[in-house]
Amino acid sequence: MDTLTHDRLLIIDFGSQVTQLIARRLRELNVYCEIHPYQNVTDAVLADLAPKAVILSGGPDSVTREGSPRAPDSLWTMGVPVLGICYGQQTMMTQLGGEVHGGKISGGGGTAEFGRAKVTKAADLDLLSGWFADGDEQVWMSHGDHVAKIAPGFEVYGTSPNAPYAILADTARHFYGVQFHPEVHHTPNGAKLYENFVRIAGFIGDWTMDAYKDIAIEKIREQVGDSHVICALSGGVDSSVTAALLHEAIGDQLTCVFVDHGLLRKNEADDVVSMFRDNMNLKVIYAQEQDLFLGQLEGQSDPETKRKIIGGLFIDVFQKYANEIEGAKFLAQGTLYPDVIESVSFSGGPSVTIKSHHNVGGLPEKMGLKLVEPLRELFKDEVRALGHELGLPASFIGRHPFPGPGLAIRCPGEITREKLDILREADAVYIDQIRKHGLYDEIWQAFVAILPVRTVGVMGDGRTYDFACALRAVTSVDGMTADYYPFSHDFLGETATRIINEVAGINRVTYDITSKPPGTIEWE
Ligand code: XMP
Repeated sequence: MDTLTHDRLLIIDFGSQVTQLIARRLRELNVYCEIHPYQNVTDAVLADLAPKAVILSGGPDSVTREGSPRAPDSLWTMGVPVLGICYGQQTMMTQLGGEVHGGKISGGGGTAEFGRAKVTKAADLDLLSGWFADGDEQVWMSHGDHVAKIAPGFEVYGTSPNAPYAILADTARHFYGVQFHPEVHHTPNGAKLYENFVRIAGFIGDWTMDAYKDIAIEKIREQVGDSHVICALSGGVDSSVTAALLHEAIGDQLTCVFVDHGLLRKNEADDVVSMFRDNMNLKVIYAQEQDLFLGQLEGQSDPETKRKIIGGLFIDVFQKYANEIEGAKFLAQGTLYPDVIESVSFSGGPSVTIKSHHNVGGLPEKMGLKLVEPLRELFKDEVRALGHELGLPASFIGRHPFPGPGLAIRCPGEITREKLDILREADAVYIDQIRKHGLYDEIWQAFVAILPVRTVGVMGDGRTYDFACALRAVTSVDGMTADYYPFSHDFLGETATRIINEVAGINRVTYDITSKPPGTIEWE
């Protein structure tokens, strides 16, 4: 177990699609929490984690099925507050002597319920402070089964038409169960329940980035000792914050490698290197390997081949430079919490899926390096807050994501230096336009793709035969799904004019209005 001194709230995950949202709500309250899949939370693990409170998530299984997931038995005698949500409420009832019925079996007046519902107050409850001020509360229900008989010691505090036991509590033991999902937006007042719950549990809300920074620095020093650490710096937020944090923790024991593969945006390399090397005094190896990458990419037009070439070369190059760093024992990576959460699989089996970060995939094993991952406990917005604490400029922290293969996947078909130069210029004008119009922070990611087609145009009295390009701008939360950004026609017109006037080699501008799915954000 780590040396965190913060009080910990444990979320036992039964496989709900929205378990991560519970963690988000709690982090917003400055409460430190961890999500653990139910299979891993044995009585021993529970004792070791020593949580100050526990939340049981929803889940796709039915407690009426034999062998379905349960909370560890010792939970009920630990003396800590427990909040069960949906499946969590149902297993709480089942384990404590109540009864749950399948959706089609009536009993206790309940039945299956999906979507919006109204909950009516039945009695006052500390968990519900601030609720029912204007009458019924809107909540989001998503359950097939329902509680048919409540466990001894529990009372009903809220009801809905299909869930007469929508809110249950045993106030003596501080056990609470809700049938709905307070963590989702469709339960507009849901955050209040979490706020009340953590207050009841005695959390003081001391999980701030300032405090986290000090703890993280201490942990890095403890882990690394006087060994040397290397870090692949991409210029993205995660690797930048990782590098800045390590630098603060171990100073000169850190060396960063920044690989310029010739596929970066205009001024990108200079901006990153000068910020870290000149302004922050980090040791940065500036690996100028443009010729190597572009040489190997010559004549390649298949998207997967291009990606594989870049990925393979990146590892070779990084390894080459890392080998020159004497005594390197650790590799730092900007792995975030959503990458490491082991989530319960929906097939119902006990398998877990762990998404691994693969910036430098396979390298640690190959080079015999151990990993330092100081952002493992953080969500993206917390990483940004930490970057702020570490003194990284706001403009840097708020940058749009930029993919590892860089402009290669924004240059469909064959990559040439000529096309890359044109693309860099067009992209710079586009981003400048977005910034000038104050839209940068509203957009999740924006870029230009240069199309593998020349079109005819007319400029002045002359005919042109130049490349067409596509502008892309999307809103998204995590890059998994995305919508195109609804620019005004004025903005699009002005931007197209500027690109055509200012960028030699482009005579036609289009706007990509594909959402994801069915499209992807990048063009390749
Ligand atoms: P797609 O195109 O798959 O992109 O919708 C989703 C998000 O992932 C980024 N992306 C990558 N990032 N290495 C990265 O580091 C990659 O190979 C890669 N491919 C896509 C993309 O920019 C978007 O933010």
